[in-house]
Amino acid sequence: MEIYNLTTKILVYSIDEYSQDIKKLIEDAKLAAKRAYAPYSGFRVGAAVLLSNGETITGNNQENAAYPSGLCAERVAMLAANSLYPDIPVEAIAIAAYSGDDYTSMPCYPCGSCRQTLLEIENRFDKPFKIIMYGKDKIYEVASIQELLPLSFGKDFLDK
Ligand code: THU
Repeated sequence: MEIYNLTTKILVYSIDEYSQDIKKLIEDAKLAAKRAYAPYSGFRVGAAVLLSNGETITGNNQENAAYPSGLCAERVAMLAANSLYPDIPVEAIAIAAYSGDDYTSMPCYPCGSCRQTLLEIENRFDKPFKIIMYGKDKIYEVASIQELLPLSFGKDFLDK
């Protein structure tokens, strides 16, 4: 038997360490969280996508009385960005969550389905992008979705 150990590299930041551009992106994600439609969970998530043309597209979770019909913030933002700008690659996505009466202390991580969607977009443009997960106490950043979704199923399996 062999054992393969996989490692994930997470950069842990405080807000002061970020450039103005990234501070703005995080702020956009935080504001988007407040506009979420989350009457069932009360857990409001915002995402802000920075494109390489400088545009920022935001989104938030949109819930539904038939629960599985709802959609997470990351997919709302990313899919809107791709539909508006199909040829423009992504530089970064910032994610923030608001629960109760404040932003969460710890970062909010994308769910499994969102990770798979982010992987598709990284592969689509053949370009990794930063994923910045905001929490009041700590901000986590990874350089690529590969860090959050090892052993992933992507387009390589379907190439003929
Ligand atoms: N949610 C997101 O929008 N993004 C995440 O990364 C985690 C979960 C949403 C889905 C649902 O509307 C609510 O948070 C509770 O799961």
